[in-house]
Amino acid sequence: MSRRSTPGLGLGRGRVADLEAGPALGTKEGLVALRIDIITIFPEYFTMLGVSLIGKAVQRGDIAFSVYDLRSWAHDPHRTVDDTPFGGGPGMVMKPEPWGEALDAIAGVRGAAGVQGETGVSGAAGVQGAAGVRGAARVPGEARVRGEAGVQGTAGGEGEVDRDAGAEPERLAAEAAEAAEDAMAAEAAMAAEAAGPVPQLIVPSPAGVVFTQAMATELAGAGHLVFACGRYEGIDARVAEHASGRMPVREVSIGDYVLGGGEPAVLVMVEAICRLLPGVLGNAESAADDSFGAGTGPMRGLVEGPVFTRPRSWRGLDVPPVLLSGDHAAIARWRRDEALRRTARNRPDLAARLVDEGLDERDRRVLSEVGFAGTIDDVANLTGPPQRVRRRARDDSKDDKRCTPRLPR
Ligand code: ADE
Repeated sequence: MSRRSTPGLGLGRGRVADLEAGPALGTKEGLVALRIDIITIFPEYFTMLGVSLIGKAVQRGDIAFSVYDLRSWAHDPHRTVDDTPFGGGPGMVMKPEPWGEALDAIAGVRGAAGVQGETGVSGAAGVQGAAGVRGAARVPGEARVRGEAGVQGTAGGEGEVDRDAGAEPERLAAEAAEAAEDAMAAEAAMAAEAAGPVPQLIVPSPAGVVFTQAMATELAGAGHLVFACGRYEGIDARVAEHASGRMPVREVSIGDYVLGGGEPAVLVMVEAICRLLPGVLGNAESAADDSFGAGTGPMRGLVEGPVFTRPRSWRGLDVPPVLLSGDHAAIARWRRDEALRRTARNRPDLAARLVDEGLDERDRRVLSEVGFAGTIDDVANLTGPPQRVRRRARDDSKDDKRCTPRLPR
């Protein structure tokens, strides 16, 4: 059975053969910072991964993408991947069987040792077979060598006729066992290195946990991600449950709205994750200055303020003079002020969390100018339309730690 190839992504034909031959796009074997596998019924969706900074990182071999057509693992003439939901209701649900086979083939290749054995059982063709063989070769070997050593040692040690005569086979057996153990450890280390990191399965879903910059940072260090793009009403729940027995699985939402399928969500996540990999961004500090910057940077918990470039004056609008001053401390302070203002205006939920976190006097003044005062600890969901935000009563006591941000009129 052939897999449709994706223009621009250089996918070959065959179900898992190009996986064995190496990831689809320009990979320096062994040096890939992140391997990403995407399973979808619309492989064409991902042609744009070949462009921009991520496309360059792929060409350098820092990132390896492989895109798989789920229908390759559907075996009826129509390559059906969905069915009606048990219990009734609208829409269709993605069938578990194609997903199970796809994950066996793709995620089983570099999974943990236990996973490979399991994959070998249910898997098909070259890759899965190879995974199964690795597990099988090691375990019976271990049992056999240890068994022999144990028998000889025991026999020699307990012999009553000639203690010295028994000592030699015992020593030889112990040495053989040790050598066999060393060989197995070396083999296991080599197999683990060749296998790569255990993949993490990401299932985009509006019902998932919300994707954040912190999650992007974490996933950038994962080594191997598998994205499973659902369509229709979603994927049969047993797929994620079964997969969680072999690898970490997360259902992830990119926001509180419903897309037609997981593909756009995967593009969003892939972009956010990959730009954090070393060497992907031109300026090494760009990511640290981002909105939501992690760590202790000046943008921690804030969205970024406005930015300007040449010309200094454009259509009667001037660049803020401080940015031309050369005074780096003043520029840093101005940027933080602007970030605070914009966060308070556009993201009161984020600003509300800030107030508790060691703001200085100036920070507090800036925030109060745009409507924040006091401590807010329970307005994390104030992201709805402005008219629906509760306004603070004028006579609220100072002891009341709750406050509602005033929004621009
Ligand atoms: N699939 C449909 N809607 C989605 C969302 N908001 N996030 C992730 N995946 C989705």
